[in-house]
Amino acid sequence: MNIIETKNLSYKYDDTTALSDISISFEKGKITTLLGANGAGKSTLFLTLNGILKPTSGTVQFMGKDIGYSKKELKLLRQNVGIVFQNPDDQLFSSSVFSDVSFGAMNLNLPREEVKERTYDALKRVGMYTLRDRPTHALSFGQKKRVAIAGVLVMKPKVIILDEPTAGLDPMGVSEIMHLLQNICRNDHATIILSTHDIDVVPIYSDFVHVIHNGGLISSGTPDEIFSDPDLLRQHNLRLPRIAHLLEILNKHDSFDVDFSKGAISGARQELLKLLKR
Ligand SMILES: Nc1ncnc2c1ncn2[C@@H]1O[C@H](COP(=O)(O)OP(=O)(O)O)[C@@H](O)[C@H]1O
Ligand SMILES: [Mg+2]
Repeated sequence: MNIIETKNLSYKYDDTTALSDISISFEKGKITTLLGANGAGKSTLFLTLNGILKPTSGTVQFMGKDIGYSKKELKLLRQNVGIVFQNPDDQLFSSSVFSDVSFGAMNLNLPREEVKERTYDALKRVGMYTLRDRPTHALSFGQKKRVAIAGVLVMKPKVIILDEPTAGLDPMGVSEIMHLLQNICRNDHATIILSTHDIDVVPIYSDFVHVIHNGGLISSGTPDEIFSDPDLLRQHNLRLPRIAHLLEILNKHDSFDVDFSKGAISGARQELLKLLKR
């Protein structure tokens, strides 16, 4: 079942068409990754999904219904569809970590005790509980990202959109964030939608992938399906995961019978073991 989708959606900034006639859907309870080169339209699409931008034409549907743009409708939509911006400085505005994260829960008009409980819980999940009284400006980039994620988690949204959540993080930080997202998806049954240029993590964590280019949808499928067509990716300034690229070279140049769509180490290992045991 699709939890959120667009129908023939176009979006124009003053002189730039950022999205043209895009119909794209996101399945409930899955992790879907949006791949696209810089300027492809990923951020613009995300901003239309929770009503921050209103399409020039076409519609966004949440749980089967066109979204509305009245203040009341948008407030409700944003409680259900949370967005974590690429730059945490665009998201954080309160003086302390605790007050920033609690803001979303306070907006839900919950009892004071529950606000506190949810805020603590969200902070623990992102590993920022011990820094809860720290001013947000005195955090590292990675810590700010975690606080921004906690600020969305606290509302318990059905859909969490993250614009390049792995950008600017060290390798450990990337793994931790991706694990956390997987955990939120599997345990809380939330739908996760993200964009990333970190192609190597895509086959590990994504259930589904959409490729966009120049504001249009190019291709959709499981990571294996998407990575089985390296030429299509290269035409759109993307690439295979390194592991899949190695398998592709073994297949095309060295004529080994390996399936190069396997972009994660586990799948590639199976392919290589099959080959070695022959
Ligand atoms: N605020 C803006 N005003 C005008 N053009 C914009 C603005 N934001 C983005 N664009 C343009 O819209 C297109 C899509 O941008 P964006 O959605 O940011 O792509 P991505 O996130 O995939 O890099 C690009 O051509 C970009 O230059
Ligand atoms: Mg962007």
